[in-house]
Amino acid sequence: MNIVILAAGMGKRMRSALPKVLHPLAGRPLLAHVIDTARTLSPTRLVVVIGHGAEKVREAVGAPDVQFAVQDQQLGTGHAVQQALPLLDPSVPTLVLYGDVPLTRASTLQRLLDAAGGERYGVLTVTVDNPVGYGRIVRDASGAVQRIVEQKDANDEEKRITEINTGIVVSPTRTLEAWLGSLKNDNAQGEFYLTDVVERAIEAGVEVVTAQPDAEWETLGVNSKVQLAELERIHQRNVAHALLEAGVTLADPARIDVRGTLECGADVSIDVNCVFEGRVTLADNVSIGPNCVIRDAVIGAGTRVDAYTHIEGGTAGANVVLGPYARLRPGAVLADEVHVGNFVEVKNAAMGRGSKANHLSYIGDSDVGARVNVGAGTITCNYDGANKHRTVIGDDVFIGSDTQLVAPVRVGRGVTIAAGTTVWKDVGDGELVLNEKRQVSRTDYVRPVKKKR
Ligand code: UD1
Ligand code: CA
Repeated sequence: MNIVILAAGMGKRMRSALPKVLHPLAGRPLLAHVIDTARTLSPTRLVVVIGHGAEKVREAVGAPDVQFAVQDQQLGTGHAVQQALPLLDPSVPTLVLYGDVPLTRASTLQRLLDAAGGERYGVLTVTVDNPVGYGRIVRDASGAVQRIVEQKDANDEEKRITEINTGIVVSPTRTLEAWLGSLKNDNAQGEFYLTDVVERAIEAGVEVVTAQPDAEWETLGVNSKVQLAELERIHQRNVAHALLEAGVTLADPARIDVRGTLECGADVSIDVNCVFEGRVTLADNVSIGPNCVIRDAVIGAGTRVDAYTHIEGGTAGANVVLGPYARLRPGAVLADEVHVGNFVEVKNAAMGRGSKANHLSYIGDSDVGARVNVGAGTITCNYDGANKHRTVIGDDVFIGSDTQLVAPVRVGRGVTIAAGTTVWKDVGDGELVLNEKRQVSRTDYVRPVKKKR
Protein backbone atom coordinates (compact mmCIF):
# COMPACT_ATOMS: atom_id res chain seq x y z
CA MET A 1 0.00 0.00 0.00
CA ASN A 2 1.01 3.62 -0.58
CA ILE A 3 0.52 6.15 2.19
CA VAL A 4 0.22 9.87 1.49
CA ILE A 5 0.32 12.27 4.41
CA LEU A 6 -1.04 15.76 3.73
CA ALA A 7 1.06 18.36 5.51
CA ALA A 8 1.23 21.40 3.25
CA GLY A 9 -1.20 23.64 5.10
CA MET A 10 0.02 26.69 6.97
CA GLY A 11 -2.00 26.47 10.14
CA LYS A 12 -2.76 30.16 10.40
CA ARG A 13 -4.73 29.67 13.59
CA MET A 14 -1.68 28.35 15.44
CA ARG A 15 -0.34 31.93 15.31
CA SER A 16 3.19 30.66 15.10
CA ALA A 17 6.21 30.82 12.80
CA LEU A 18 6.60 27.05 13.19
CA PRO A 19 4.78 25.03 10.48
CA LYS A 20 1.67 23.51 12.06
CA VAL A 21 2.68 19.88 11.62
CA LEU A 22 5.92 20.51 13.52
CA HIS A 23 4.23 21.63 16.72
CA PRO A 24 5.04 19.06 19.35
CA LEU A 25 2.65 16.61 20.93
CA ALA A 26 4.27 14.62 23.74
CA GLY A 27 7.57 16.24 22.79
CA ARG A 28 7.54 15.22 19.11
CA PRO A 29 6.18 16.89 15.98
CA LEU A 30 2.56 16.09 15.17
CA LEU A 31 3.71 14.81 11.80
CA ALA A 32 6.21 12.43 13.43
CA HIS A 33 3.34 10.71 15.22
CA VAL A 34 1.50 10.24 11.92
CA ILE A 35 4.65 8.92 10.22
CA ASP A 36 5.18 6.47 13.10
CA THR A 37 1.64 5.14 12.76
CA ALA A 38 2.03 4.94 8.98
CA ARG A 39 5.20 2.89 9.39
CA THR A 40 3.42 0.29 11.50
CA LEU A 41 1.32 -0.48 8.38
CA SER A 42 4.51 -1.22 6.37
CA PRO A 43 3.68 0.91 3.33
CA THR A 44 5.60 0.31 0.11
CA ARG A 45 5.73 4.08 -0.46
CA LEU A 46 5.41 6.77 2.20
CA VAL A 47 4.97 10.25 0.76
CA VAL A 48 4.54 13.48 2.72
CA VAL A 49 3.02 16.42 0.84
CA ILE A 50 4.71 19.59 2.04
CA GLY A 51 4.23 23.25 1.22
CA HIS A 52 4.28 25.81 4.00
CA GLY A 53 7.65 25.63 5.74
CA ALA A 54 8.60 22.80 3.39
CA GLU A 55 12.31 22.91 4.19
CA LYS A 56 11.78 22.90 7.95
CA VAL A 57 9.36 19.98 7.67
CA ARG A 58 11.75 18.04 5.43
CA GLU A 59 14.57 18.60 7.89
CA ALA A 60 12.49 17.65 10.94
CA VAL A 61 11.06 14.36 9.68
CA GLY A 62 13.33 13.40 6.78
CA ALA A 63 14.24 9.71 6.75
CA PRO A 64 15.28 7.20 4.10
CA ASP A 65 11.79 5.70 3.92
CA VAL A 66 10.01 9.06 3.56
CA GLN A 67 9.59 10.81 0.22
CA PHE A 68 8.39 14.36 -0.17
CA ALA A 69 6.09 15.93 -2.76
CA VAL A 70 5.94 19.70 -2.79
CA GLN A 71 2.63 21.48 -3.19
CA ASP A 72 3.62 25.08 -3.86
CA GLN A 73 0.13 26.48 -3.63
CA GLN A 74 -2.47 24.98 -1.33
CA LEU A 75 -5.28 24.54 -3.83
CA GLY A 76 -7.12 21.92 -1.81
CA THR A 77 -6.87 18.41 -0.45
CA GLY A 78 -7.49 16.83 -3.86
CA HIS A 79 -4.76 18.92 -5.44
CA ALA A 80 -2.45 17.96 -2.55
CA VAL A 81 -2.89 14.23 -3.19
CA GLN A 82 -2.33 14.86 -6.90
CA GLN A 83 1.18 16.13 -6.15
CA ALA A 84 2.09 12.78 -4.62
CA LEU A 85 0.82 10.64 -7.51
CA PRO A 86 4.09 10.40 -9.46
CA LEU A 87 5.75 8.87 -6.39
CA LEU A 88 3.12 6.17 -5.85
CA ASP A 89 2.99 2.54 -6.88
CA PRO A 90 -0.15 2.30 -9.07
CA SER A 91 -0.60 -1.41 -8.42
CA VAL A 92 -1.49 -1.03 -4.71
CA PRO A 93 -4.10 1.12 -2.95
CA THR A 94 -3.31 4.56 -1.50
CA LEU A 95 -4.19 5.56 2.04
CA VAL A 96 -4.45 9.30 2.71
CA LEU A 97 -3.62 10.59 6.20
CA TYR A 98 -3.33 14.10 7.64
CA GLY A 99 -0.18 15.47 9.21
CA ASP A 100 -2.22 17.33 11.80
CA VAL A 101 -4.29 14.33 12.96
CA PRO A 102 -1.79 12.64 15.26
CA LEU A 103 -3.67 10.09 17.35
CA THR A 104 -5.27 7.70 14.85
CA ARG A 105 -4.62 4.11 15.88
CA ALA A 106 -3.11 1.70 13.39
CA SER A 107 -5.92 -0.77 14.19
CA THR A 108 -8.49 1.78 13.03
CA LEU A 109 -6.62 2.35 9.77
CA GLN A 110 -6.36 -1.40 9.29
CA ARG A 111 -10.13 -1.67 9.71
CA LEU A 112 -10.58 0.90 6.93
CA LEU A 113 -8.09 -0.93 4.72
CA ASP A 114 -9.83 -4.23 5.33
CA ALA A 115 -13.23 -2.73 4.49
CA ALA A 116 -11.93 -1.28 1.23
CA GLY A 117 -9.88 -4.25 0.12
CA GLY A 118 -7.98 -3.52 -3.09
CA GLU A 119 -10.87 -2.33 -5.26
CA ARG A 120 -13.26 -0.27 -3.14
CA TYR A 121 -13.00 3.36 -2.07
CA GLY A 122 -12.98 3.64 1.71
CA VAL A 123 -13.75 6.63 3.92
CA LEU A 124 -13.12 6.76 7.66
CA THR A 125 -16.20 8.42 9.13
CA VAL A 126 -17.38 9.16 12.62
CA THR A 127 -20.68 10.28 14.09
CA VAL A 128 -20.28 13.30 16.33
CA ASP A 129 -22.49 15.48 18.52
CA ASN A 130 -21.32 18.67 16.86
CA PRO A 131 -20.52 18.22 13.17
CA VAL A 132 -20.00 21.94 12.44
CA GLY A 133 -17.01 22.57 10.21
CA TYR A 134 -16.66 19.05 8.88
CA GLY A 135 -17.60 17.48 5.59
CA ARG A 136 -20.88 15.50 5.93
CA ILE A 137 -21.47 11.97 4.67
CA VAL A 138 -24.57 11.99 2.46
CA ARG A 139 -26.19 8.56 2.13
CA ASP A 140 -29.13 7.41 0.04
CA ALA A 141 -32.25 5.65 1.34
CA SER A 142 -30.46 2.31 1.24
CA GLY A 143 -27.64 3.71 3.34
CA ALA A 144 -25.08 3.78 0.53
CA VAL A 145 -22.70 6.74 0.49
CA GLN A 146 -23.57 9.16 -2.29
CA ARG A 147 -21.15 12.00 -1.71
CA ILE A 148 -19.44 14.19 0.87
CA VAL A 149 -20.54 17.78 1.21
CA GLU A 150 -18.35 20.38 2.88
CA GLN A 151 -19.80 22.57 5.64
CA LYS A 152 -19.56 25.66 3.44
CA ASP A 153 -21.37 23.98 0.56
CA ALA A 154 -24.02 22.15 2.60
CA ASN A 155 -27.74 23.01 2.63
CA ASP A 156 -29.70 23.08 5.87
CA GLU A 157 -30.75 19.46 5.63
CA GLU A 158 -27.19 18.32 4.96
CA LYS A 159 -25.91 20.40 7.86
CA ARG A 160 -28.06 18.27 10.19
CA ILE A 161 -26.08 15.14 9.24
CA THR A 162 -23.88 14.10 12.15
CA GLU A 163 -21.78 11.51 10.34
CA ILE A 164 -18.67 13.35 9.23
CA ASN A 165 -15.68 12.79 7.00
CA THR A 166 -12.52 12.39 9.05
CA GLY A 167 -10.55 13.10 5.88
CA ILE A 168 -8.81 9.74 6.00
CA VAL A 169 -9.55 7.73 2.86
CA VAL A 170 -8.18 4.80 0.90
CA SER A 171 -8.48 4.48 -2.85
CA PRO A 172 -7.35 2.22 -5.65
CA THR A 173 -4.39 4.12 -7.10
CA ARG A 174 -4.64 3.52 -10.84
CA THR A 175 -8.05 5.17 -11.06
CA LEU A 176 -7.18 7.93 -8.61
CA GLU A 177 -5.13 9.82 -11.16
CA ALA A 178 -8.07 10.26 -13.53
CA TRP A 179 -10.47 11.05 -10.69
CA LEU A 180 -8.22 13.73 -9.25
CA GLY A 181 -7.56 15.14 -12.72
CA SER A 182 -11.28 15.65 -13.25
CA LEU A 183 -11.91 17.58 -10.01
CA LYS A 184 -13.40 21.08 -10.30
CA ASN A 185 -12.94 23.92 -7.87
CA ASP A 186 -16.40 25.44 -8.43
CA ASN A 187 -17.29 25.32 -4.74
CA ALA A 188 -17.59 27.72 -1.84
CA GLN A 189 -13.84 27.64 -1.10
CA GLY A 190 -12.56 27.54 -4.70
CA GLU A 191 -10.55 24.41 -3.86
CA PHE A 192 -10.02 21.03 -5.46
CA TYR A 193 -11.67 18.84 -2.85
CA LEU A 194 -10.47 15.29 -2.26
CA THR A 195 -13.98 14.64 -0.97
CA ASP A 196 -15.38 14.99 -4.49
CA VAL A 197 -13.55 11.82 -5.51
CA VAL A 198 -16.37 9.88 -3.84
CA GLU A 199 -18.73 10.90 -6.65
CA ARG A 200 -16.12 10.04 -9.29
CA ALA A 201 -15.72 6.59 -7.78
CA ILE A 202 -19.47 5.98 -7.78
CA GLU A 203 -19.71 7.17 -11.41
CA ALA A 204 -16.98 4.67 -12.27
CA GLY A 205 -18.96 1.88 -10.60
CA VAL A 206 -16.55 1.60 -7.69
CA GLU A 207 -18.19 0.81 -4.37
CA VAL A 208 -17.69 3.35 -1.58
CA VAL A 209 -17.45 1.87 1.91
CA THR A 210 -16.91 3.39 5.33
CA ALA A 211 -15.26 2.34 8.55
CA GLN A 212 -15.32 3.92 12.01
CA PRO A 213 -12.66 4.43 14.65
CA ASP A 214 -13.02 3.06 18.20
CA ALA A 215 -12.82 6.56 19.64
CA GLU A 216 -13.62 9.98 18.27
CA TRP A 217 -10.33 11.47 19.48
CA GLU A 218 -8.48 9.29 17.00
CA THR A 219 -9.76 11.51 14.23
CA LEU A 220 -9.32 14.92 15.84
CA GLY A 221 -7.05 17.37 14.07
CA VAL A 222 -5.05 20.30 15.34
CA ASN A 223 -5.91 23.73 13.99
CA SER A 224 -5.20 25.84 17.07
CA LYS A 225 -3.22 25.80 20.30
CA VAL A 226 -6.46 25.02 22.12
CA GLN A 227 -6.93 21.85 20.07
CA LEU A 228 -3.24 20.99 20.44
CA ALA A 229 -3.51 21.24 24.22
CA GLU A 230 -6.68 19.12 24.19
CA LEU A 231 -5.02 16.38 22.15
CA GLU A 232 -1.95 16.49 24.39
CA ARG A 233 -4.19 15.80 27.39
CA ILE A 234 -6.02 12.99 25.57
CA HIS A 235 -2.70 11.43 24.61
CA GLN A 236 -1.30 11.74 28.13
CA ARG A 237 -4.48 10.24 29.57
CA ASN A 238 -4.11 7.28 27.20
CA VAL A 239 -0.47 6.82 28.20
CA ALA A 240 -1.36 7.00 31.90
CA HIS A 241 -4.15 4.47 31.46
CA ALA A 242 -1.80 2.10 29.66
CA LEU A 243 0.66 2.40 32.56
CA LEU A 244 -2.09 1.69 35.08
CA GLU A 245 -3.27 -1.30 33.05
CA ALA A 246 0.32 -2.57 33.11
CA GLY A 247 0.31 -2.41 36.90
CA VAL A 248 2.13 0.86 37.53
CA THR A 249 0.85 2.87 40.49
CA LEU A 250 0.22 6.50 39.57
CA ALA A 251 -0.64 8.88 42.39
CA ASP A 252 -2.73 10.80 39.85
CA PRO A 253 -3.08 9.70 36.21
CA ALA A 254 -3.89 13.30 35.30
CA ARG A 255 -0.53 14.50 36.59
CA ILE A 256 2.08 12.58 34.64
CA ASP A 257 3.59 13.55 31.28
CA VAL A 258 5.40 11.05 29.13
CA ARG A 259 7.19 12.62 26.18
CA GLY A 260 8.83 9.56 24.74
CA THR A 261 8.75 5.98 25.97
CA LEU A 262 8.48 4.89 29.57
CA GLU A 263 9.01 1.23 30.31
CA CYS A 264 8.17 0.01 33.80
CA GLY A 265 8.76 -3.24 35.61
CA ALA A 266 6.50 -4.65 38.30
CA ASP A 267 5.34 -2.58 41.27
CA VAL A 268 6.66 0.74 40.08
CA SER A 269 5.07 3.76 41.68
CA ILE A 270 5.12 7.31 40.41
CA ASP A 271 4.02 10.31 42.43
CA VAL A 272 2.46 13.45 40.96
CA ASN A 273 3.86 15.93 38.43
CA CYS A 274 6.63 13.84 36.96
CA VAL A 275 7.82 14.36 33.39
CA PHE A 276 9.50 11.52 31.48
CA GLU A 277 11.36 12.34 28.29
CA GLY A 278 13.18 10.28 25.68
CA ARG A 279 13.66 6.63 26.63
CA VAL A 280 13.23 5.88 30.30
CA THR A 281 13.28 2.43 31.86
CA LEU A 282 12.25 1.83 35.47
CA ALA A 283 12.94 -1.66 36.80
CA ASP A 284 10.84 -3.53 39.39
CA ASN A 285 9.94 -1.73 42.61
CA VAL A 286 11.26 1.65 41.57
CA SER A 287 9.52 4.53 43.24
CA ILE A 288 9.57 8.04 41.87
CA GLY A 289 8.75 10.95 44.14
CA PRO A 290 6.78 14.02 43.13
CA ASN A 291 8.01 16.65 40.68
CA CYS A 292 10.82 14.70 39.05
CA VAL A 293 12.02 15.24 35.48
CA ILE A 294 13.61 12.10 34.06
CA ARG A 295 15.07 11.86 30.57
CA ASP A 296 16.95 9.04 28.84
CA ALA A 297 17.60 7.03 31.95
CA VAL A 298 17.75 3.44 33.11
CA ILE A 299 16.85 3.03 36.77
CA GLY A 300 17.53 -0.27 38.53
CA ALA A 301 15.29 -2.38 40.73
CA GLY A 302 14.28 -1.04 44.12
CA THR A 303 15.77 2.38 43.48
CA ARG A 304 14.06 5.35 45.08
CA VAL A 305 14.04 8.68 43.31
CA ASP A 306 12.94 11.33 45.74
CA ALA A 307 11.16 14.61 45.06
CA TYR A 308 12.48 17.20 42.62
CA THR A 309 15.18 15.00 41.19
CA HIS A 310 16.28 15.94 37.68
CA ILE A 311 17.85 13.31 35.44
CA GLU A 312 19.04 14.38 32.01
CA GLY A 313 20.60 11.05 31.09
CA GLY A 314 22.21 8.37 33.22
CA THR A 315 22.03 4.93 34.69
CA ALA A 316 21.33 3.94 38.25
CA GLY A 317 21.75 0.41 39.57
CA ALA A 318 19.58 -1.41 42.09
CA ASN A 319 18.59 0.04 45.45
CA VAL A 320 20.04 3.45 44.71
CA VAL A 321 18.67 6.48 46.54
CA LEU A 322 18.50 9.67 44.51
CA GLY A 323 17.37 13.04 45.78
CA PRO A 324 15.51 14.88 46.94
CA TYR A 325 16.88 17.55 44.57
CA ALA A 326 19.56 15.40 42.95
CA ARG A 327 20.74 16.02 39.42
CA LEU A 328 22.15 13.42 37.06
CA ARG A 329 23.55 14.50 33.72
CA PRO A 330 24.59 12.41 30.73
CA GLY A 331 27.23 9.83 31.52
CA ALA A 332 26.31 9.46 35.17
CA VAL A 333 26.60 5.77 36.01
CA LEU A 334 25.68 4.81 39.55
CA ALA A 335 26.32 1.28 40.75
CA ASP A 336 23.99 -0.53 43.16
CA GLU A 337 23.28 1.06 46.54
CA VAL A 338 24.75 4.44 45.67
CA HIS A 339 23.21 7.45 47.39
CA VAL A 340 23.13 10.83 45.66
CA GLY A 341 21.43 13.40 47.80
CA ASN A 342 20.24 16.95 47.73
CA PHE A 343 21.99 19.45 45.48
CA VAL A 344 24.46 16.90 44.23
CA GLU A 345 25.24 16.99 40.51
CA VAL A 346 26.83 13.98 38.83
CA LYS A 347 28.00 14.29 35.22
CA ASN A 348 30.02 11.89 33.08
CA ALA A 349 31.08 10.08 36.21
CA ALA A 350 30.85 6.58 37.61
CA MET A 351 30.21 5.91 41.29
CA GLY A 352 30.98 2.44 42.60
CA ARG A 353 28.76 0.23 44.72
CA GLY A 354 27.65 1.73 48.00
CA SER A 355 29.30 5.12 47.51
CA LYS A 356 27.49 8.12 48.93
CA ALA A 357 27.40 11.79 48.06
CA ASN A 358 24.58 13.02 50.17
CA HIS A 359 24.87 16.78 50.15
CA LEU A 360 25.89 19.71 47.96
CA SER A 361 28.53 18.30 45.65
CA TYR A 362 29.70 18.28 42.06
CA ILE A 363 31.08 15.01 40.73
CA GLY A 364 32.07 15.53 37.09
CA ASP A 365 34.35 13.55 34.75
CA SER A 366 35.22 11.19 37.57
CA ASP A 367 35.67 7.55 38.40
CA VAL A 368 34.68 7.04 42.00
CA GLY A 369 35.29 3.61 43.50
CA ALA A 370 33.09 1.59 45.82
CA ARG A 371 32.09 2.57 49.37
CA VAL A 372 33.45 6.08 48.98
CA ASN A 373 32.04 8.71 51.28
CA VAL A 374 31.85 12.06 49.53
CA GLY A 375 31.51 14.76 52.16
CA ALA A 376 29.23 17.74 51.83
CA GLY A 377 30.55 20.45 49.56
CA THR A 378 33.00 18.26 47.67
CA ILE A 379 33.83 19.60 44.22
CA THR A 380 35.70 17.89 41.42
CA CYS A 381 37.41 20.80 39.67
CA ASN A 382 37.26 19.20 36.23
CA TYR A 383 37.76 22.28 34.07
CA ASP A 384 40.91 24.33 33.84
CA GLY A 385 39.33 27.03 31.71
CA ALA A 386 40.24 25.29 28.47
CA ASN A 387 40.00 21.52 28.91
CA LYS A 388 38.21 18.95 31.04
CA HIS A 389 40.20 16.46 33.11
CA ARG A 390 39.36 13.33 35.09
CA THR A 391 39.38 12.65 38.78
CA VAL A 392 39.99 9.07 39.84
CA ILE A 393 39.13 8.01 43.39
CA GLY A 394 39.84 4.52 44.73
CA ASP A 395 37.60 2.28 46.82
CA ASP A 396 36.92 3.08 50.47
CA VAL A 397 38.09 6.67 50.28
CA PHE A 398 36.71 9.07 52.87
CA ILE A 399 36.42 12.59 51.50
CA GLY A 400 35.99 15.22 54.19
CA SER A 401 33.55 18.04 53.67
CA ASP A 402 34.47 21.00 51.52
CA THR A 403 37.16 19.21 49.56
CA GLN A 404 38.28 20.29 46.12
CA LEU A 405 39.85 17.72 43.82
CA VAL A 406 41.76 19.55 41.08
CA ALA A 407 41.80 17.30 38.01
CA PRO A 408 43.65 15.53 36.61
CA VAL A 409 44.22 13.85 39.92
CA ARG A 410 44.24 10.30 41.31
CA VAL A 411 43.43 9.37 44.88
CA GLY A 412 44.45 5.84 45.94
CA ARG A 413 42.36 3.27 47.81
CA GLY A 414 41.48 3.83 51.41
CA VAL A 415 42.69 7.42 51.43
CA THR A 416 41.33 9.84 54.01
CA ILE A 417 40.99 13.44 52.91
CA ALA A 418 40.64 15.93 55.72
CA ALA A 419 37.83 18.46 55.59
CA GLY A 420 38.65 21.57 53.64
CA THR A 421 41.48 20.04 51.62
CA THR A 422 42.41 21.08 48.11
CA VAL A 423 43.86 17.97 46.49
CA TRP A 424 45.96 18.85 43.45
CA LYS A 425 48.55 16.10 43.55
CA ASP A 426 48.02 12.34 43.38
CA VAL A 427 47.62 10.58 46.72
CA GLY A 428 48.92 7.06 47.40
CA ASP A 429 46.85 4.20 48.84
CA GLY A 430 45.94 4.47 52.49
CA GLU A 431 47.35 7.96 53.06
CA LEU A 432 45.81 10.80 54.99
CA VAL A 433 45.87 13.99 53.00
CA LEU A 434 45.35 17.51 54.32
CA ASN A 435 46.51 21.03 53.63
CA GLU A 436 48.50 22.52 56.43
CA LYS A 437 46.73 25.44 57.89
CA ARG A 438 46.68 26.82 61.34
CA GLN A 439 43.69 27.52 63.51
CA VAL A 440 44.19 30.74 65.42
CA SER A 441 42.14 31.86 68.43
CA ARG A 442 42.42 35.39 69.73
CA THR A 443 40.97 36.92 72.84
CA ASP A 444 41.56 40.55 71.89
CA TYR A 445 38.98 40.68 69.11
CA VAL A 446 36.07 43.09 69.38
CA ARG A 447 33.12 42.69 67.03
CA PRO A 448 32.14 45.86 65.21
CA VAL A 449 28.83 47.26 66.33
CA LYS A 450 26.33 49.17 64.24
CA LYS A 451 26.71 52.94 64.60
CA LYS A 452 23.79 54.64 66.34
CA ARG A 453 22.31 57.58 64.41
C1 UD1 B 1 -11.13 18.39 5.31
C2 UD1 B 1 -12.20 17.68 4.50
C3 UD1 B 1 -13.46 17.58 5.34
C4 UD1 B 1 -13.16 16.85 6.64
C5 UD1 B 1 -12.03 17.54 7.39
C6 UD1 B 1 -11.60 16.72 8.55
C7 UD1 B 1 -11.80 18.26 2.18
C8 UD1 B 1 -12.22 19.12 1.05
N1 UD1 B 1 -12.46 18.44 3.33
O1 UD1 B 1 -11.60 19.72 5.51
O2 UD1 B 1 -14.48 16.88 4.63
O3 UD1 B 1 -14.32 16.82 7.45
O4 UD1 B 1 -10.88 17.69 6.52
O5 UD1 B 1 -10.71 17.43 9.33
O6 UD1 B 1 -10.94 17.44 2.02
N2 UD1 B 1 -3.86 20.33 2.98
C9 UD1 B 1 -2.81 20.35 2.10
N3 UD1 B 1 -2.93 21.05 0.96
C10 UD1 B 1 -4.03 21.73 0.64
C11 UD1 B 1 -5.12 21.72 1.53
C12 UD1 B 1 -5.00 21.01 2.70
O7 UD1 B 1 -1.77 19.74 2.35
O8 UD1 B 1 -4.06 22.34 -0.44
C13 UD1 B 1 -3.73 19.59 4.22
C14 UD1 B 1 -3.78 20.49 5.43
O9 UD1 B 1 -2.46 20.85 5.82
C15 UD1 B 1 -4.43 19.61 6.48
C16 UD1 B 1 -5.32 18.69 5.66
O10 UD1 B 1 -4.85 18.75 4.34
O11 UD1 B 1 -3.49 18.79 7.15
C17 UD1 B 1 -6.78 19.10 5.74
O12 UD1 B 1 -6.92 20.39 5.19
P1 UD1 B 1 -7.95 21.42 5.76
O13 UD1 B 1 -7.85 22.63 4.95
O14 UD1 B 1 -7.80 21.53 7.23
O15 UD1 B 1 -9.30 20.67 5.41
P2 UD1 B 1 -10.71 20.96 6.06
O16 UD1 B 1 -11.27 22.19 5.46
O17 UD1 B 1 -10.63 20.88 7.52
CA1 CA C 1 -8.86 20.89 9.14
